[in-house]
Amino acid sequence: MAERNPPFGSIICRSSLFFVFTIASFFFIFSWFSVLHSTSHPHSIDLSSSPNSRLFAVIDNKNTQPRNQDDIQPSVPNMSGSVNCKEEAPQDKEFMKCNPNRVVKVFMYDLPPEFHFGLLDWKPEGNGVWPDLKTKIPDYPGGLNLQHSIEYWLTLDLLSSTFPDSTGTRSAVRMHNSSEADVIFVPFFSSLSYNRYSKPQPHEKNRNYLLQEKLVKFLAAQEEWKRSGGRDHIIMAHHPNSMLDARMKLWPAMFILSDFGRYPPTIANVQKDVIAPYKHIIRTFVNDSSSFDDRPTLLYFQGAIYRKDGGYVRQELFYLLKDEKDVHFSFGSVNKGGINKASKGMHSSKFCLNIAGDTPSSNRLFDAIASHCVPVIISDQIELPYEDVLDYSEFCIFVPASDAVKENYLIKLIRSIKKEKWTRMWKRLKQVEKFFEFQYPSHEDDAVQMIWQTVARKVPSIRLELHKSKRFSQHTGRRKRDPIAVPRNFW
Ligand SMILES: *[C@@H]1O[C@H](CO)[C@@H](O)[C@H](O)[C@H]1NC(C)=O
Ligand SMILES: *[C@@H]1O[C@H](CO)[C@@H](O)[C@H](O)[C@H]1NC(C)=O
Ligand SMILES: *[C@@H]1O[C@H](CO)[C@@H](O)[C@H](O)[C@H]1NC(C)=O
Repeated sequence: MAERNPPFGSIICRSSLFFVFTIASFFFIFSWFSVLHSTSHPHSIDLSSSPNSRLFAVIDNKNTQPRNQDDIQPSVPNMSGSVNCKEEAPQDKEFMKCNPNRVVKVFMYDLPPEFHFGLLDWKPEGNGVWPDLKTKIPDYPGGLNLQHSIEYWLTLDLLSSTFPDSTGTRSAVRMHNSSEADVIFVPFFSSLSYNRYSKPQPHEKNRNYLLQEKLVKFLAAQEEWKRSGGRDHIIMAHHPNSMLDARMKLWPAMFILSDFGRYPPTIANVQKDVIAPYKHIIRTFVNDSSSFDDRPTLLYFQGAIYRKDGGYVRQELFYLLKDEKDVHFSFGSVNKGGINKASKGMHSSKFCLNIAGDTPSSNRLFDAIASHCVPVIISDQIELPYEDVLDYSEFCIFVPASDAVKENYLIKLIRSIKKEKWTRMWKRLKQVEKFFEFQYPSHEDDAVQMIWQTVARKVPSIRLELHKSKRFSQHTGRRKRDPIAVPRNFW
């Protein structure tokens, strides 16, 4: 009713509203054009927009690069060639350093030796805290300790980064002025500290705990930590149980980890942190000219049996596979005496199983890569090193745990992979194995350098976070957060 016979007054009201709306729209469109015009003006481009345009250039460049499966070169972007910097020479070196050899600049705290080489029973001479690598390199304890020795290799690499570099392939360089560094490195050998000193002591806290406590105190007092809140710090915690006490306090930093299995996502996550490979225990298969037909074992698994967490998959698979003639499935972790036997076993197998145990990752995967035994990964939560530049599907088979435990599923899948596909993956394994090799001195694109390159790729996002955090800090009186705090949304 009201609609068919609108009162006179409301018509007047509607038309005047329409008039106001039209005027408003006009001004809106006009001002929008002015804004557009002014941003396209060269003087109004602020510095923050230029890294963006470079980023898009990099992405474009990467997508248009041709890919060839059988190419000898690894498909990891050639960091020297992929960044579009030559045409667009950076005027401001504060931003993405586009020099062809992107080297991450690292400041390293001179922590007392008890945090690093002192744990290797090295004793300093005089006041120095670091060994002189030109005379003798302290040994890292062997055996299973070695699988988490990432801390040792990265530190050696930094200490030697000022030696003459004959190959010109360095990925990190040590800076002595922290203001000139991209990241701040905390040289605590936390995995070794855990392995050696985490046993409970009768009447006192164990040394592993005390070292962590001391480290947190040290960091909280440093200018470098205070100015970034720890965001640009690198803390190594490769053993899943290392830094157990300090991790909740040092969470703003970038952790170097084996997986996120024992971390809440607010403390560690794939955006902020770096996944590093284990150092493999099995011998590298040097001069491997084996073929599909030369490797008699179809599928190989050797590992501890776990009854908790993801471990039930191991038991299920054991029952599913135990009657297959060409499958080797045995429990028991590889100890010193077993390394030779396991090396032979993996070198003579086509596929090697990597099943989640009590953590999503294990050194089994890296043993398989070193053996050129195509990894079959059954671990839904696994995170893989450098996966932003490396496509693991080219040399690994991934099977969801829920499928793997179905009757006949896994064995049918493995048997369906024929010689041609296997050979392609085997060739790819031989190309990528160097990315997982820890050594001193480091070589081009070995694990040490790949980890530094991963760190380098995180530097722009650390800067973004740092700059954002400074937005309001210019107003005096606004209290900064405690230098070391538990994340707000953690509890
Ligand atoms: C990477 O790119 C640079 C410059 O384009 C080139 O000189 C170098 O040979 C490349 N390296 C590899 C491993 O492709
Ligand atoms: C460290 O670097 C900053 C920035 O380049 C500079 O201002 C400062 O003077 C340097 N400090 C020393 C001790 O050289
Ligand atoms: C591998 O092959 C190279 C070149 O043929 C040879 O010099 C080297 O001794 C071989 N290494 C092993 C472990 O067989």
